[in-house]
Amino acid sequence: MYIAEIRLSGFRSYASAHFALSPGLNVVVGANATGKTNLVEAAYWSLRATSPRTSRDDKLMRWGADAARVEVMLGDGRTAALAYSPRLGRRATVDGVAVNSLERLRRLGPVFLFVPESLLLVKGGPARRRAHLDAFGADVDPAYQASVAALQTAVRQRNAQLARVRAGGPERALDPWDAQLVSSGLELERRRRALVEALAERFAGFAAALSPAGGAFGLSLRSALADIGDDPDGYHEALWARRPREIESAVSALGPHRDDLEIFESLPTGERRDLRLFGSQGEQRAAVLALLLAEREVAEQWTGQRGPLFLDDVMSELDDARRRLLVRLLAASGQAVVTTTTSMYFRPEELAGARIIDLQDGLPAPAAEGSRRVATEGRESSGGGSP
Ligand SMILES: Nc1ncnc2c1ncn2[C@@H]1O[C@H](COP(=O)(O)OP(=O)(O)OP(=O)(O)O)[C@@H](O)[C@H]1O
Ligand SMILES: [Mg+2]
Repeated sequence: MYIAEIRLSGFRSYASAHFALSPGLNVVVGANATGKTNLVEAAYWSLRATSPRTSRDDKLMRWGADAARVEVMLGDGRTAALAYSPRLGRRATVDGVAVNSLERLRRLGPVFLFVPESLLLVKGGPARRRAHLDAFGADVDPAYQASVAALQTAVRQRNAQLARVRAGGPERALDPWDAQLVSSGLELERRRRALVEALAERFAGFAAALSPAGGAFGLSLRSALADIGDDPDGYHEALWARRPREIESAVSALGPHRDDLEIFESLPTGERRDLRLFGSQGEQRAAVLALLLAEREVAEQWTGQRGPLFLDDVMSELDDARRRLLVRLLAASGQAVVTTTTSMYFRPEELAGARIIDLQDGLPAPAAEGSRRVATEGRESSGGGSP
């Protein structure tokens, strides 16, 4: 799946704009504040019904506009549109037909996004990594979302029951909630494990390919259930053993809701270097990129859909060697849309096969529209955004 065209109206800095994208590499060039991130945000919002920058749709409306609308045409001719106005709320259409559920948009195919905040995936806490993994799981495994919801319900209800027992209620009332937690916990854990297993091998390949010095990288699910495996009795026993403590805290602390995704480099000594704690910014960035590239391959294998990859402002923070390695991977990987303040981060031969979208005040410059030409470097460097 790729995006062939995108139309924006009343979205952020765009009054009205239309861009044609290539199924391969697209490079969006513009100085600061020319609308690069806005364009990426629009594409993501139209297919995911969520923005990486805000949870409030009214922020997406161009100041003074009464609605924001983004329409995409996919490579196979399908269209999707999402609009927001304060009066009507969100309205989505697929192939021109109104759809009630935003899920229908999401089912058009996966979309992959790197924004500067994505670094938190490596740097931040476990909850962010779980949420990312679960969102991806929901994209590629139809039953995943239901497993996540079932676990959340079980944890919430069990915690409420723990609090009732703490307040003097009968302890045996916990038994059915233990059973719920065990069955939904093991179910989600199975799905997560399969997902991480599928990602791990590809992640290792991409992370090594993005590392100028080579190296061995890995992903693994860190779970307190690892020793229990698929055994419900083991899980029940573990819950039983910690019951007094859990009644006291009224918190269910054993289950996939406490998992973490470990992202590491394997050292020659056999030790693991956790990139969260010990990775440099560049290494952490490369790790997130490797994860996204791995996800795309898993998506393709599991669903037949690869999905576009949006990389906002990634080039400026990578060293030249990593830039070359990344562009090489992107050139071989389906649709990628990379934003940059200057085309100088790319070699002329890398741009030769790319679609250049040259932004001037949020509009494609006439010379660049629909062209496959190499961007003129003089213009970007006079745009005020060059390093
Ligand atoms: N709701 C809105 N209505 C109108 N303009 C907006 C709105 N939200 C943001 N903008 C403007 O959009 C402009 C471009 O923002 P954007 O983040 O896309 O720039 P950018 O090209 O990614 O810049 P940078 O290189 O600094 O990341 C900003 O100047 C911002 O003020
Ligand atoms: Mg930006």
